[in-house]
Amino acid sequence: MTTALITGSTAGIGAAFARRLAADGHDLVLVARDTKRLREQATELHDRHGIEVEVLTADLATDQGIEAVAARLTDPRNPVDLLVNNAGFGNKGRYLDVPMADELRMLKVHCEAVLRLTGAAAEAMRTRGRGGIVNVASVAAFVPRGTYGASKAWVVQFTQGAARDLAGSGVRLMALAPGFVRTEFHQRAGMGTDNIPGWMWLDADKLVASALADLSRGKTLSIPDPRYKALMGLVKVTPRALLGGISSRTGRKYGPQ
Ligand SMILES: NC(=O)c1ccc[n+]([C@@H]2O[C@H](COP(=O)([O-])OP(=O)(O)OC[C@H]3O[C@@H](n4cnc5c(N)ncnc54)[C@H](OP(=O)(O)O)[C@@H]3O)[C@@H](O)[C@H]2O)c1
Repeated sequence: MTTALITGSTAGIGAAFARRLAADGHDLVLVARDTKRLREQATELHDRHGIEVEVLTADLATDQGIEAVAARLTDPRNPVDLLVNNAGFGNKGRYLDVPMADELRMLKVHCEAVLRLTGAAAEAMRTRGRGGIVNVASVAAFVPRGTYGASKAWVVQFTQGAARDLAGSGVRLMALAPGFVRTEFHQRAGMGTDNIPGWMWLDADKLVASALADLSRGKTLSIPDPRYKALMGLVKVTPRALLGGISSRTGRKYGPQ
């Protein structure tokens, strides 16, 4: 029996990871801030799939929250085989519209927490000679679009670099870059979604299935879905200045996060 720890497990993409991993028979450690919701999720997954589920209430925008999760990841009596660094959020508005405190909170959750939790997990996994880490980024990482995209670009670069450094250790690292997914993300950030064309929306369960298949194939970057693979192919050959213009006009109020 293996154990997976998922941050931001109670909604959206994290909840889809929890459903899929539970159905596959993994024990789970679920992390988020809302304890009541975590407990309800744990009970449901335990009852449906007969797996063991722990809940860990932690705010990853705080040092205490990050340290509590890192301590769980390094507990030698209860090893974690798969870490999914998924917790994240968006801030509505362009650069300088968003208060600096909110920008710093985003960096703490998207970058510092991911760095520290990846480090804690990878160290323990390297000692055991096996393990997997999925860091959830976004296709916003590949276009010049504000601090959200910049934070997710860091996740991609960091994860692929660390994967290379740990090659041969038995520890697999993969950045996951989804396009639009219907979750609580946009509503929580106060962003409207009416202008996003229907074809751009991905299904969270299919996204997770595709991500886990990519992880087992040893990929260090997963861009689920042929539509987004094609779009990201176009992005690669589009001049940066043009891309910046398109990207800053589109999707800031509504945009891919
Ligand atoms: N939805 C999209 O279109 C999309 C596209 C690309 C990438 N992503 C990325 O996918 C990841 C998941 O997003 P989602 O769309 O599934 O969002 P979501 O539905 O809003 O869920 C966010 C989850 O993260 C938890 N969370 C938020 N802040 C936290 C904090 N400070 N500490 C601990 N947990 C926290 C939330 O629970 P609590 O509130 O209880 O803490 C919740 O479980 C994010 O990294 C996001 O950037 C989303």
